[in-house]
Amino acid sequence: MNEAAPVSLEPLYALSDEQLQARIAQAKAQLGERCVILGHHYQREEVYRFADLSGDSLKLSRLASQRTAAQYIVFCGVHFMAEVADILSAPEQTVILPDLAAGCSMADMADLVQVQQAWQALNQVVDGDRLITPLTYVNSTADLKAFCGDHGGSVCTSSNAEKMLQWAFAQREKVLFFPDQHLGRNSSHRLGVPLEEMVLWQQHLPNGGLSAEDIRRARVILWDGYCSVHTMFQPAHVALFRQRVPGIQVIVHPECSFEVCQLADARGSTEQIQERVRAAPSGSKWAIGTELNLVNRLKREMPDKEIHFLCPTVCLCSTMFRIDLAHLCWVMENLQQGHVLNRIRVPEREAAAARVALQRMLSVV
Ligand code: 13P
Ligand code: SF4
Repeated sequence: MNEAAPVSLEPLYALSDEQLQARIAQAKAQLGERCVILGHHYQREEVYRFADLSGDSLKLSRLASQRTAAQYIVFCGVHFMAEVADILSAPEQTVILPDLAAGCSMADMADLVQVQQAWQALNQVVDGDRLITPLTYVNSTADLKAFCGDHGGSVCTSSNAEKMLQWAFAQREKVLFFPDQHLGRNSSHRLGVPLEEMVLWQQHLPNGGLSAEDIRRARVILWDGYCSVHTMFQPAHVALFRQRVPGIQVIVHPECSFEVCQLADARGSTEQIQERVRAAPSGSKWAIGTELNLVNRLKREMPDKEIHFLCPTVCLCSTMFRIDLAHLCWVMENLQQGHVLNRIRVPEREAAAARVALQRMLSVV
């Protein structure tokens, strides 16, 4: 039995960054192979530095399912990412989110009751289980992934949305895509679906604001969620950079609006943006439309390239930002003493159905 008292969080805030870093490094060294730290690309620099493995959502999902040796997975990301890690990791592994308040505002824009109500309303018009594939962006709660698992649907990430939409259309003629309308619209359009064949399900309106005819005609029904960080990027920002910096290339995350994505030279997940800019020749010029921590990291990493942040204001994922050195130190030192804090555990019935949806995705891409 563990005798040591748990380490408290508050006193850690009195320490300097250097002191916290030294204590995290010490806890990490002592935990050794038993603990793996995963870090999303948006994570603030001082925390990101401790990640054993980093990636976009798809890469991190895969990594979580492959690191079976580690007893503890400390996930420096947001809540839905830690849920995916729990669903895909082995039963004896424990997933920890250093701050439970690190959520995703977009994921919160669709809940199970709302999606079930939408599904029922759509089924009043068409036979959903025969005609509509539900496809959820990975930025969603585990119960929505379970809903997709139970209804013949799947999950996508920003790096495989087009492939997963193709998969979804191969199953049934229509797709209900949630929660991010922008990823759904941008990816469907790139597959050749015209905007007129996409409709927006507005959850606050009766019947989503759609007539029976709208639903019958639609190929893609988009949920009206969005990312408050990526919707800050505007067409005017693209125009301004093109005017100010001749030869600049604009690359954006597909959570940006349709207009911004149309104006950009390229789109991609956080991993794809990095790959693209890294592969570009020295001296090339880039304006990048995604979260600030990632863009700043790329700037530091490639001083031989001219890298700009596409927005004049700060676009920061404030929920991811909640994970700071103090929280990481807190969970690591407690682990070291045998206290598991902030465990993310998806109930098994829900996890089983969500796993079906995620495995469908992992078998396609
Ligand atoms: P990526 O899968 O591209 O890392 O995106 C996750 C995310 O939340 C972007 O806002
Ligand atoms: Fe969610 Fe937007 Fe943060 Fe990504 S950047 S985790 S979509 S709030």
